[in-house]
Amino acid sequence: MKKIIIEGNHLLHGKIRISGAKNSAVALVPASLLCDEEVIIDSIPNISDIDALEEMLEYLNADVKRDKTTIKINSRNINNLEIPEKISKKLRASYYFMGALLGRYKEVTMFFPGGCPIGARPIDLHLKGFEALGAKVYEEGNKYTLIAEDLKGSNIYLDFPSVGATINIMLAAVKAKGFTTIENAACEPEIVNVATFLNNMGAKITGAGTTTIIVEGVDYLHKAYTEVIPDRIEAGTYIIAGALLGDNLVIENIIPEHIMSLLQKLKSMGVKMKLENGSIIVNKSRNLKPINIQTRVYPGFPTDLQQPITTLLNYCNGVSTILETIYENRFCNVEYLNKMGTNIKIEGRKISIDGPNELTGKQVVATDLRAGACLILAGLVAEGITEISDVEHVLRGYENIIEKLTNVGAKIRLEEIK
Ligand code: UD1
Repeated sequence: MKKIIIEGNHLLHGKIRISGAKNSAVALVPASLLCDEEVIIDSIPNISDIDALEEMLEYLNADVKRDKTTIKINSRNINNLEIPEKISKKLRASYYFMGALLGRYKEVTMFFPGGCPIGARPIDLHLKGFEALGAKVYEEGNKYTLIAEDLKGSNIYLDFPSVGATINIMLAAVKAKGFTTIENAACEPEIVNVATFLNNMGAKITGAGTTTIIVEGVDYLHKAYTEVIPDRIEAGTYIIAGALLGDNLVIENIIPEHIMSLLQKLKSMGVKMKLENGSIIVNKSRNLKPINIQTRVYPGFPTDLQQPITTLLNYCNGVSTILETIYENRFCNVEYLNKMGTNIKIEGRKISIDGPNELTGKQVVATDLRAGACLILAGLVAEGITEISDVEHVLRGYENIIEKLTNVGAKIRLEEIK
């Protein structure tokens, strides 16, 4: 068990470089299973979700070489083994092994994926997509076996533009016979990253990044290289840190279009920031205007930044609101923020944040990844000492968060709890 300890209220000055996107990397790595030759993925973030995927690849006997930012994977000699629960539950993205192994072997057995406890997270849309391609799905408790005599292209309409289902169906369809059309597909930048990687291997995917994706099946995928796009959620989290405490804090390696919804909201609040050649300079901002946010699929406001921005909304003059439309239970951070001094009310899927209030350091719990990010931001700005437990969640998704924040002047450390 680990905890993070923060002495709050120190300005942040210097540069933070954004790492490769977690949600891209966790799909790119399983995508490599479709290829019989070596693939190279650059700008891989050093986070525990990637460690877990590496473990899964090695369990299947893939040849994996990983250094600081690059992973080389050769899946030529893998075994299509049943993936046990103790491995699959380590992360949500283990579900991509379903699409990739089904696409390669037309058969896969694995257990239900893990992930943050933020409400029901079914995989019915993934399974419907696999069935449309010709797979039969057998469920036995938490265990799923998918078998297809043949995978054949199909027209698939997603009832909801799920990121995971869109990517998983692409993975299963790249080697299916004929054309697959995914309608109402998710448009997140991570999907474009994965489609580009598959196309670099010889796949024929068009329309990624729009609501209609067309996959023409191919027989063989060859060696390829790709780079993980910068993490837009990590970027957003540090931009919010800059709005809370920045003294010309520079956030480098961002793609502004990927965080447009956040930047627009910050602008309407009155946050002091300036875009400059792939970087953004942010300064501590107060007397902010209250705003209303609804989380939406891309390019709408990302649910993954809803909890981090709650800390900043505490510094608006008046009542701000957040309506969470994607997940049913993503407000576990609120109890702890209120303990630290915010005045937040939860009504179903909506919260009202009445500010501004001074925050004081307290003992709090990171119940999930982005709740943890929210509480780190609160700890950075609060007076006194904040102790955050269960921070394994945070380390799953933020590369070197302690070092990155320490380098810009935060007083933050990680401690092992005995
Ligand atoms: C991905 C991201 C996660 C982000 C989310 C929404 C990864 C590894 N994780 O998660 O950080 O918060 O997108 O941007 O990329 N749903 C169903 N049935 C399904 C699939 C999803 O009902 O088969 C529902 C989910 O319960 C949820 C909503 O659709 O309410 C969004 O889920 P989805 O877009 O699939 O999110 P993930 O891929 O799990």
